[in-house]
Amino acid sequence: MTQLRTDLLPADPAGIATAARLLRGGQLVAFPTETVYGLGADAGNADAVAALYAAKGRPAENPLIVHLPDAAAAQPLARFPPHALRLAAAFWPGPLTLVLPRADSAALAPAVSAGRPTVALRVPAHPLAQALLRAVRRPVAAPSANRSGKLSPTLAADAMAGLSGRIAAVIDGGACAIGLESTIVAVDAAQLRLLRPGAIGADLLAEAAGAPVTAAAQDPNAPVEAPGQLATHYAPEAVLRLDVTAPDPGEVWVGFGPGCDGAALSLSDTGDLAEAAARLFATLRAADRLAAEGGGRIGVAPVPDHHLGLAINDRLRRAAAPRE
Ligand code: TXA
Ligand code: MG
Repeated sequence: MTQLRTDLLPADPAGIATAARLLRGGQLVAFPTETVYGLGADAGNADAVAALYAAKGRPAENPLIVHLPDAAAAQPLARFPPHALRLAAAFWPGPLTLVLPRADSAALAPAVSAGRPTVALRVPAHPLAQALLRAVRRPVAAPSANRSGKLSPTLAADAMAGLSGRIAAVIDGGACAIGLESTIVAVDAAQLRLLRPGAIGADLLAEAAGAPVTAAAQDPNAPVEAPGQLATHYAPEAVLRLDVTAPDPGEVWVGFGPGCDGAALSLSDTGDLAEAAARLFATLRAADRLAAEGGGRIGVAPVPDHHLGLAINDRLRRAAAPRE
């Protein structure tokens, strides 16, 4: 891979215009969303999409989310059953991705769907993402702006650290407010399946859709519904242990809530789940740096398994999963 100069672009109209020009020219640009930073490519340009897989080191079988500025722009790309229309009306723009049957006429590079008959669509709410998508005027494929398998980026510096030299630019939009990737729901005529928990919980989805939401198949022999949800993911370099109330000697302890005296870092001193979500990936990166100087081990205090805690624990379990 040839080494590129990766520009850090300001979050102003000139920065957006430059980023849009680069994307329209088939280049790769990282940009902020309310969840995490995404690495954008023109979803209709097969060469740009191939370059996106290469820059991330992403397995070819892991499909991409296509980003649009509004539901009207999403409409021609997929078939929207009534539940999907209700979810789009309730949660777009916002941290929700819908996996839908791809329209035959959708002008998307085939690699976006990685051989599946579906396409994942998302309308982000972040003002910079909105401005960029409106300026590009094309669907933008955007996985999280990290090397495949690593922690997702919630700051421009994180995207730069992982991808500098491999992409054209990063727009610096500061920290992402939510900090966890979007909720992913697969919608077909019959049912709704939660493929990835996120800030929008299953209860809210079911209420808005007027239909039950089932969890994606956990059977290891079942076909993989969201390939990116395979166990090893979001991995720090250090070995990570969960539900740690008493750290081992040399283990970097990450606390949650009051009562974690002696913890090196905390997801939230007060036990606030939204704060913990927003800080999760940055805290794991900081813990990783401390662990690299010590025993190479991180222990994370228990996080309650409700509301945003479900999505936080999903990411923590993947970070703790045995590595291939
Ligand atoms: O919040 C987010 O969703 C961020 C921001 C940048 O929008 N994007 C993101 O993309 O998290 P990525 O590529 O890191 O995760 C996308 C997930 C993967 O687990 C992938 O397998 C799944 O979505 N996915 C994409 N298209 C799919 C499809 N057609 N069917 C099933 N799963 C799909
Ligand atoms: Mg990702």
